[in-house]
Amino acid sequence: MTTQHDTGPRRNSMFRTKSVEQSIRDTEEPEHALRKSLSALDLTVFGVGVIIGTGIFVLTGAVAKNNAGPATALAFVAAGVVCALAAVCYAEFASTVPVAGSAYTFSYASLGELPAWIIGWDLVLEFALATAVVAVGWSGYVQSLIDNAGWHLPDSLAGTNEETGFGFDLLAFLLVLLLTAILVLGMKLSARVTAVVVAVKLTVVLIVIIAGAFFIDSANYSPFIPKAQEQPAGAGLASPLIQLMFGYAPTNFGVMGIFTAASVVFFAFIGFDIVATAAEETKVPQRDMPHGIIGSLLICTVLYVAVSIVVTGMQRYTELTVDAPLADAFKATGHPFYAGVISFGAAVGLTTVCMILLLGQTRVFFAMSRDGLLPRIFSHVHPRFRTPYRSTVLLGVIIAIVAGFTSIEELASLVNIGTLFAFVVVAIGVVILRRTRPDLPRSFRAPLVPWLPAVSVMASLWLMLNLPAETWLRFAIWMAVGVVVYFGYGRRNSRLGKSV
Ligand code: ALA
Repeated sequence: MTTQHDTGPRRNSMFRTKSVEQSIRDTEEPEHALRKSLSALDLTVFGVGVIIGTGIFVLTGAVAKNNAGPATALAFVAAGVVCALAAVCYAEFASTVPVAGSAYTFSYASLGELPAWIIGWDLVLEFALATAVVAVGWSGYVQSLIDNAGWHLPDSLAGTNEETGFGFDLLAFLLVLLLTAILVLGMKLSARVTAVVVAVKLTVVLIVIIAGAFFIDSANYSPFIPKAQEQPAGAGLASPLIQLMFGYAPTNFGVMGIFTAASVVFFAFIGFDIVATAAEETKVPQRDMPHGIIGSLLICTVLYVAVSIVVTGMQRYTELTVDAPLADAFKATGHPFYAGVISFGAAVGLTTVCMILLLGQTRVFFAMSRDGLLPRIFSHVHPRFRTPYRSTVLLGVIIAIVAGFTSIEELASLVNIGTLFAFVVVAIGVVILRRTRPDLPRSFRAPLVPWLPAVSVMASLWLMLNLPAETWLRFAIWMAVGVVVYFGYGRRNSRLGKSV
């Protein structure tokens, strides 16, 4: 069956679109159907479970120390605003097209097949690398706990050695494999485990805010926005693109430093978009999706601003540590007990982040495979567990290897640029779908269309421009490879292209 939107000359075009009705029908085919079991509360827990992670537990320290000082709280506000704008667009899309695959599915329904492929390929980068980043962050916290207990992993298994560049992160590798196995066994188990772990993580974050508030020294807030400092010579491609484009001598700190910081701590917000990838497994997506996405984002923004204000008040920003800044701020103020509890909570909390990122990744892969843009073998669901087990296992093993062999910092910027790019596409998609399919039921409508999506596009682009030039280069290479794969495989095997 076809609709007016996928017939005619556009059928062979790279911009052929898959109708929303077709997308929803595909999810109803028994051999490709996922179980619908999630409520709005599950989604919010799911969202908070993936949003709060390495960003706040690890990146806060580096950003305060190198880019923004106490004004890191403002960087969180800036990144939060960018995400809120995007979240409104995601909420409209997810409530209109409740199908696995997030921005990929949305683009297929609005922009066409090539843009959808590009976004799917981009999401592979986002979710897979983010899973690896968080697994490595988790391994760091666990190793610090193991060290406290007097045990030590051999250096060669403790992660990449900064001097030699060699080493294998055994714990990160094992974590990804274990989570892969849990995901294969089914969504239900994952959601239950997630709920418990999220409770632990929230408790730890609240301990940081409430206990830490008593140890603030207001002298640490001055200056709140440290004066701009020139970057060391030779920073070159590591400088933000915007500063290179306009020929500034690249600086750290100052007002521009807040935006550089925002483009990094943006990582801390990644995850609300992943709630949208679970649309197909949601009981009443039209109602539950917007609540889940916007609710989880709001909770996290408030917590992040509070945590960064407290931590930069506890310890002078120049003295914050880079690996475990929250725990170390408590050590520095003479409270090692809190530090231990925080390290433990962070280690527990990061497991769910990793698991949900991995889940988001497998669902995008699943949706692309179901559409024939990737081999169809990956979209069969397991007869008993109802999970796309083949794509889960394949991606899990690849990500485990990446996590074992790479260090996190550069990967995190690459994840951010990929995610921001997806935000841009989704915001444009909302406007296009309003024009091409005004008839579709939208239980959640973004206000002020097209202005709000336009501001969302500009805000996302602004953060992208604040990322290092070398990140742009890596991103361009990845996307170019994606276009080659599309023309080599996806275009010829596309299910939409083959259907009559
Ligand atoms: N937002 C997630 C984190 O901070 C990805 O780890």
